[in-house]
Amino acid sequence: MEIVKAKGPNELLTWEDMQKMRYSWAAANEAMRLAPPMQGNFRKALSDFTYAGFHIPKGGMNLHIAYKYVFESLHLYWSVNSTHMNPDYFLEPEKFDPSRFQGNGPTPYAFIPFGGGPRMCPGKEYARFEILVFLHNVVKKFKWETVFPNEMMKVDPLPTPAEGLPILLHPH
Ligand code: HEM
Repeated sequence: MEIVKAKGPNELLTWEDMQKMRYSWAAANEAMRLAPPMQGNFRKALSDFTYAGFHIPKGGMNLHIAYKYVFESLHLYWSVNSTHMNPDYFLEPEKFDPSRFQGNGPTPYAFIPFGGGPRMCPGKEYARFEILVFLHNVVKKFKWETVFPNEMMKVDPLPTPAEGLPILLHPH
């Protein structure tokens, strides 16, 4: 709202405005921590290694037969959800708390909705802008109420509100 107040009636958001939306981005990050849009991805082990007592064999992976490999010979699938819910990295992981993303933020590679390393999502910054512009305009124009306050999420495999997230919009 501070950004809105500093602008003329039809003035558009600028790059500088987006950099100021730190709390909004912290809240969006916290939403993506609790309900990550992507559940994980496959990786190919370049060499044999052992992690947490599991032997991971070196091996290739063809995405079309990924499930066959995952279930038959246990190649690699890294999971966003289990990392985001690990209490070693996020105290009280079930709790919605955007302040986790203020200050230094989470430990590197603990918050991974966009993946990590050389294959990290190249759309990350675009997604950030899209989310912030959407959020900004909704907050600026409306107050809203959810029709089902305790609506559950289903994952199939993308997280989707079970009832389609109906809301009541009240223009300011
Ligand atoms: C909230 C929105 C988004 C989320 C949560 C998301 C998440 C992800 C994740 C987890 C990966 C796998 C990264 C890895 O394996 O390390 C990925 C890959 C990718 N994403 Fe996104 N993404 C989002 C939006 C976008 C957008 C807007 C675009 C394009 C404009 C995009 C394009 C891609 C592409 C091309 C890859 C494959 C990269 C590669 O394999 O080298 N994504 N994304």
